[in-house]
Amino acid sequence: MAAGWQSTLASYWDAPVASVKQHHDWSALEKNMRPEACAQCHESQFNDWKQSLHAKAYSPGMVGQFAAMGHEAGSDCLRCHAPLEQQLFDSDAQMLSSLKTLRQFPQGVNLDADLDAPEAKLPLRHSGVSCAVCHVREGQRFGPPRKGSQQEGLMTGAAHGGFIASQKFEQSAFCAECHQFPQSYAINGKPLENTVREWQQSKFSQEGKHCQSCHMPDRKHQFKGIHDPSFTRKALDISVFMNKYDLPTLQITSKHIGHAFPTYVTPKVTIQAKALDKQGKVLQTWQWDMVREVFFAEEGWQEKKDTRLMPSETRMFTVSKLHQQAVQVLFEVIVIPDQFYKGVYQSLLLDKPEGDAKVLIQQALQQAEQNDYLLYTGHVEVMSATHSQ
Ligand code: HEC
Ligand code: HEC
Ligand code: HEC
Ligand code: HEC
Ligand code: HEC
Repeated sequence: MAAGWQSTLASYWDAPVASVKQHHDWSALEKNMRPEACAQCHESQFNDWKQSLHAKAYSPGMVGQFAAMGHEAGSDCLRCHAPLEQQLFDSDAQMLSSLKTLRQFPQGVNLDADLDAPEAKLPLRHSGVSCAVCHVREGQRFGPPRKGSQQEGLMTGAAHGGFIASQKFEQSAFCAECHQFPQSYAINGKPLENTVREWQQSKFSQEGKHCQSCHMPDRKHQFKGIHDPSFTRKALDISVFMNKYDLPTLQITSKHIGHAFPTYVTPKVTIQAKALDKQGKVLQTWQWDMVREVFFAEEGWQEKKDTRLMPSETRMFTVSKLHQQAVQVLFEVIVIPDQFYKGVYQSLLLDKPEGDAKVLIQQALQQAEQNDYLLYTGHVEVMSATHSQ
């Protein structure tokens, strides 16, 4: 085994299989690939992971679209959302019946890790990007070297035949399979998903800080991202002030983000400014955004604009031609994590899907709308003497 593990890792993400080879003489618990089973011995990883979007990747927004697809196209989506061989679909009928199952069990995992609960008996695809997706190949567990050690190779352990330790688990390349498209898919020089390359060009790659350093601090399985307001807020420096020309200004610096803010084409960040008079009445408004906007045309995907904030970049948003009566300018930074998907769901609903598909897409739209949040608000007082601009 020890000799073969290097070659196993080389093809780790090619058609990944988790199921246990027949010859393993293990307990039912060790053979069980459900995350609730792993949780019996790895509770802390389970408790973090279950709240992450990886646990929710087998989602109503994706499955709701399956009604209009063949099972091979559906399995193509699962390549990132639930990629193990035993998570993929065998037939159109199986895929179509999965819409009903997801409606019945919107929660694909039992949150108390109760192995007798009905969720713990659902097909493995319901657990999305779950433990076995990242850690199991043909029953064998793979993981990072033990904490404080660099040692790679087969480690003996008290369960599931030990595990194979590899430093690859600590590197950005491990996440690339699902978070980076090949360069040959580029639109205006950049693939739709370009996170790993953006990271390579940032100072964080030189400092040896990988995706895991920020998204799995102390190896915690939280995978927080743009959907988490406090995680996002902490990574930015934002302030408002009068600039040297006495113009109200908002300044934003990307301090601790290892890629563009936002990295994907799906979120949008807007910066809004309002000039108010003494009574609080709005006199003027301004709006800017940070987004990479793409659209699909006959020639394929096209880029409309790319105004995202790059790692370590500082940008200023300044208002000018202020109204005479303005006494205050109020700034707001608003994050719309699922901007692109909201549009997708709305247009899918215009096509009048039926039954389960309709309900799932409606649920997805509702969830996407609830994800918007106010990242920052601040104001500057304006003195009337500065109104000459
Ligand atoms: C019966 C208890 C038990 C179950 C069930 C179990 N594990 Fe483990 N696991 C262990 C033990 C014990 C070790 C060895 C820890 C050590 O020696 O450092 C281990 C080690 C690991 C490691 C290596 C940790 C490292 O330091 O790199 C990974 C990864 C892992 N297990 C994943 C899983 C996954 C995924 C599942 C479910 C599919 C699972 N385990 C189910 C007990 C269990
Ligand atoms: C290369 C990997 C990859 C493939 C293939 C893929 N996705 Fe995704 N998908 C992602 C990632 C990463 C996210 C989260 C980031 C984002 O918002 O774009 C996501 C998010 C989503 C979302 C929004 C969040 C949610 O789960 O509700 C939907 C809906 C979705 N994908 C549907 C699909 C569908 C339908 C397909 C197949 C046509 C597909 N995806 C194929 C990686 C992939
Ligand atoms: C998206 C991939 C991914 C998923 C899903 C995932 N892990 Fe991990 N896991 C990792 C990576 C990467 C590391 C190493 C992180 C590091 O070293 O910074 C890791 C580390 C571990 C370790 C070693 C922890 C330590 O402190 O030494 C265990 C045990 C483990 N995972 C178990 C699990 C279990 C159980 C689940 C499901 C509840 C799970 N993982 C889900 C990627 C994943
Ligand atoms: C220096 C810390 C840091 C590093 C390194 C880092 N990230 Fe992030 N990441 C963040 C922060 C903070 C956010 C939330 C703000 C945002 O969305 O840009 C985020 C957001 C995300 C998102 C949410 C979607 C989006 O459009 O922004 C994804 C996906 C993601 N990161 C994946 C990765 C991957 C994959 C890597 C490694 C190639 C990585 N990150 C490296 C800090 C980091
Ligand atoms: C098997 C494919 C796969 C792998 C491997 C994978 N991810 Fe993901 N990741 C996804 C999908 C799919 C989503 C979107 C889930 C959803 O919302 O439906 C996602 C979502 C995320 C998010 C949440 C972004 C947000 O919008 O807030 C972060 C952060 C993230 N991944 C980081 C990582 C890191 C770090 C690694 C490597 C340790 C990694 N992922 C490995 C498929 C994967």
